[in-house]
Amino acid sequence: MVSTLFRHATLLLVIAALTGCSGVQSPLDPAGREAEWIAQLFVWMAIGVLVIWLGMIALALLAPHRRPFATARHQTLFIAGGGVVFPVLVLVALIGYGLSGLPGMLAPAAAGGLSLEVSGVQWWWRVRYFAPGLASVETANEIRLPVGTRVDIRLLSEDVIHSFWMPPVAGKLDMIPGRLNRLSVEPTRTGTFRGACAEFCGPSHARMNFTIIVMERGAFDAWLASESRPALDPRDPTAQRGRTAFVERGCGTCHTVRGTESIGRAGPDLTHVGSRHTMAAGTLPLRQDEIQRWITQTELLKPGAHMPAFAVLPDDVVAEIAAYLMQLK
Ligand code: CUA
Repeated sequence: MVSTLFRHATLLLVIAALTGCSGVQSPLDPAGREAEWIAQLFVWMAIGVLVIWLGMIALALLAPHRRPFATARHQTLFIAGGGVVFPVLVLVALIGYGLSGLPGMLAPAAAGGLSLEVSGVQWWWRVRYFAPGLASVETANEIRLPVGTRVDIRLLSEDVIHSFWMPPVAGKLDMIPGRLNRLSVEPTRTGTFRGACAEFCGPSHARMNFTIIVMERGAFDAWLASESRPALDPRDPTAQRGRTAFVERGCGTCHTVRGTESIGRAGPDLTHVGSRHTMAAGTLPLRQDEIQRWITQTELLKPGAHMPAFAVLPDDVVAEIAAYLMQLK
């Protein structure tokens, strides 16, 4: 009976541990050089904690039955050794080991290559790419990186303190208004992952996420080149009406669609919004019905959002604007 219970409990624990360690937002399932180091540090610290904990439990169990220290001098030596010398040595070793990874993590990318600038804004991410021979490209809420290339990311904030965190790729770093922080990352495998804001920054802090896509270098370069092009004019009549409504209803006051008269800077750049995986900073899948819901019920989907809800727009106009945005690939 007891052994069956024990086996079931062990199985549950193993399943919980395994499922908790993998996934698109796990620092223990690394896809970047920096995250690999952090995961390794975690494993060694966990092993250290386990060994010390087992030692303490063994001593606690033995204590009532034995008296290994007959003299007061032995007792004093044991307390000084176990209570002062041992923790100091262990902590110094752990700190030294932890700090030894820093130089590698802070090593900047080679000058003159690809670099990124990410700004935290309540509650979304402005992402800009700088590459030789290419005009700077702006996008939002999605970060694409080439695998095996070291890339510098400059971190800024446009309002309050945010914290930029790509758990599978690197450690987190704060975005502080008026200050420039630098992060260097080197993705080690391709895939789609998830990042998040890791510092409470207002009512929709939990709705400030982003998609990370690590691509082969060739595919990344092709994507960046296509992203740098202005938006094409829609061919579909519904989307054409949507384009007109987008300008007439004032959407372009806050949003940019490169190649059109919409040059607003307050909200995300929408030039190629139709090619993104998610919308509203990783809170909704990118679908036409979700864009319509976002336009009319903004406050419900993201409390405190600076974009006002356009609930007064007729349904067909909202559908046309959504159709226009969906085809901006
Ligand atoms: Cu931005 Cu939390």
